[in-house]
Amino acid sequence: MFGPFHVDGAPHYRLGAAIANGARGEPCLVRGTVRGSNGETVAGARLGVWQSDADGLYDVQHAGLGHAQARGVLESDAEGRYAFRSILAVPYAIPHDGPVGELLQASGRHPWRPAHLHFMISAPGYETLITHVFRRDDPYLDSDAVFGVRQSLVADWRQQADGSWFVEYDFVLNPAAVREP
Ligand SMILES: [Fe+2]
Repeated sequence: MFGPFHVDGAPHYRLGAAIANGARGEPCLVRGTVRGSNGETVAGARLGVWQSDADGLYDVQHAGLGHAQARGVLESDAEGRYAFRSILAVPYAIPHDGPVGELLQASGRHPWRPAHLHFMISAPGYETLITHVFRRDDPYLDSDAVFGVRQSLVADWRQQADGSWFVEYDFVLNPAAVREP
């Protein structure tokens, strides 16, 4: 699921960099590895990440902001590892004025999405993966307004002694489809 809040041309960051860039939220470290389906590490995988802020809004929803917040592109290292500092993901309501709101209301559903990070991961020889990572224990995990949740995409955000947050998630890429001649 790509969603409406991905934008091309997000800033590139070094591994471990802070990508919040002024977005409001509690600090959170995100890290993990990128592997192929045979368990091989994928070096140089390009990871695009984007998320909402503590108000449940993406940078592009803040009128006149003019720069990227809590979104960026980084590359996995020689061991397939990635890491960046951002902010704690929180649940947010999808825009629900107009037809979307009417549809939700008619089907008796709420507009909330459980807290998540968005990722788009690509590497030569692999299928591009566009996915979410969801926060376990989120009250909306079982009723995501847009049905994006899979158990395999749920991870534990842990609060550290200093109050900051930490989440680790490992991605697995499928091999690129082999085209018949
Ligand atoms: Fe989202």
